[in-house]
Amino acid sequence: MIDQATIERIVDAANISDVVSEFVTLKKRGVNQLGLCPFHNEKTPSFTVSPAKGIFKCFGCGKGGNSVNFIMELEQLSYPDALRWLAKKFHIEIEEKEESNEEKALKDERESMMIVSAFAQKYFSRYLLKENEGRTVGLSYLRERGIRDDIIAKFELGFCPDGKDLFTQAAEREGYKMEFLEKTGLTIKRDDWVRDRFGGRVIFPVHNVAGRVIAFGGRTLTNDKKVAKYLNSPESEIYHKGRTLYGIYQAKRDITRLDKCYLVEGYTDVLSFHQAGIENVVASSGTSLTIEQIRLIRRFSPNITIVYDGDDAGIKASLRGIDMVLEEGINVKVLPLPRGEDPDSFARSMSASELAEYIKKNETDFIKFKTQLLMGTVENDPVSKARLINEIVKSISVIPDTITRTIYIKECSRLMDVQEAILYSEIRKIQNKQTEDHTRKEIQELQVQATKPVVPVTEKKVVNPFETEEREIIRFLMKYFHQEVFEMEDEETHEVKTYTVGVYVISELHTDGLVSVNPKVRAILSDMELNLDNKDFDPVKYFTQHPDSEISKYASTLLSEKYIESKRWSKGGAFIESESELLYLLVPKLIQEYKLKNVKMLLKKLEHQINEANKSNESEKIMDFLNQYQNLKKVMKELSELLGFRTIS
Ligand code: CTP
Ligand code: MN
Repeated sequence: MIDQATIERIVDAANISDVVSEFVTLKKRGVNQLGLCPFHNEKTPSFTVSPAKGIFKCFGCGKGGNSVNFIMELEQLSYPDALRWLAKKFHIEIEEKEESNEEKALKDERESMMIVSAFAQKYFSRYLLKENEGRTVGLSYLRERGIRDDIIAKFELGFCPDGKDLFTQAAEREGYKMEFLEKTGLTIKRDDWVRDRFGGRVIFPVHNVAGRVIAFGGRTLTNDKKVAKYLNSPESEIYHKGRTLYGIYQAKRDITRLDKCYLVEGYTDVLSFHQAGIENVVASSGTSLTIEQIRLIRRFSPNITIVYDGDDAGIKASLRGIDMVLEEGINVKVLPLPRGEDPDSFARSMSASELAEYIKKNETDFIKFKTQLLMGTVENDPVSKARLINEIVKSISVIPDTITRTIYIKECSRLMDVQEAILYSEIRKIQNKQTEDHTRKEIQELQVQATKPVVPVTEKKVVNPFETEEREIIRFLMKYFHQEVFEMEDEETHEVKTYTVGVYVISELHTDGLVSVNPKVRAILSDMELNLDNKDFDPVKYFTQHPDSEISKYASTLLSEKYIESKRWSKGGAFIESESELLYLLVPKLIQEYKLKNVKMLLKKLEHQINEANKSNESEKIMDFLNQYQNLKKVMKELSELLGFRTIS
């Protein structure tokens, strides 16, 4: 493991311009640099590097981050490997933390398991293509199913001889240890007998993202209903079924390039799609989809299209998949298949261009999919319709991104013929409940770790750690909403545009995804957002006379509270400027304070998570948390500097 001090040295040295320039030609554009994005196809540059902030951001595809993120993304490396890459480039010696004997042993064990798996894959492939039994039984089966030789080669398909332990014997002859044959599940051993797990089966090797074989699926060739159609490798140190996607290695390039991933169920579905020229496809391999699998896809693209079997089980699985995927901030579509078809049979029943055409025509967003599916039973029954709307609104409410949510609400309103306002209020209800549950949990966690005496969280009331900051922000917004205080130069035209306090604050909150736990604050901010361009909107009047008495009370107290306007500013000298004259200073400062507090809380939480992960020795998690920690530290540094504090390193 790389120790923390070294990580910091690498991150500090890894100048973003130098790193990106290795791959992208950059031109100066004001204080930034501009180039063609390496993560998506584009003709006009929208990929920006900010040397001052040490970050990159593509306004086309949305990818962004620091030098480490850039290398991770571009070279498809893990966090530690990206650090090693950067260390090499910037000539920083890495002091890897001494591994404990246990860690070493575990690493050796995993490496040995991967090595024996690689051997098995080669053995099975050779057996399929070169040996008599492999060719007459295995290969002819695959050919009969119409699987082409290039696909067999690409997926390294194989065949395991149909004998008791022919494979195991061969492996042992080559010097592979029984211990690892057993641990990978290739061999099953009991006191008095030994046999091959996959004897007589066609073999589908499972690769990890880096392309190493970590497991196998074996398909029987008998039609005997008592025999399991597929046998899979058992869970092991190198294979966690729920964290693996079949085909990810072969698909990852096209998932990134085309910015979309098809999700199917089975091994043969993946093969047939590839054969039809669709290579951005992965399979969950028959298990129900897991969060880890979704996150694995999201590393390459935030767009998923679910293509499950055209039967009841497939539809049910799609519905379940939709909500999970939405919750991870991924855009989800569904490609419904005719009854009785699975992606494999369907793809094989037509030409590649017909399949492409079908996909183009039939891919539907999840709202249409759900609506069409359930509408049939609704007809003119208002109760069922209400239930259906609720069902769809629930799905929309889990989407983390505001803009995406807005689009879906519009779509739902159109399809179901309901006013958007009603949908919004439904969503707010669901979200309020969720945030309350969530915040209560978060706060409890924070309190537990802070070993301070635990303040009991009462059942209904949620403690809002940002109470003071939010009050100030809302007060400023109400008083100075339309005041034009900020200006910014347009990058293209160099025209200077002015912005109101309202626009400034709302967009700043949006950029950082800051959402209050207080439903009143959320409601006020969202009403303000809707009225940013409305010159007639008088926030003081609007909120103090708001029909929701909670909101009008909140607004009135804010305005009547005795704020000593320029307290902070009058201390030093005799000259006292009024609050309204200092808006250009006060408003950004308020926002920064708010952000800083947020970051601090997140850091505290991460520290706790790192400690926990340390205890249970989950090195992947630790690395992931440390990466986040580094990024946040940087943000905190910047924010503190803007506020005029020095950071204590
Ligand atoms: N599966 C499994 N064990 C089984 C059956 C299925 O692990 N006994 C997994 C496999 O990954 C399989 C996927 O579930 O690919 C989907 O199952 P199914 O649709 O039954 O298989 P197909 O992929 O259609 O296989 P085939 O076309 O060979 O019948
Ligand atoms: Mn099938």
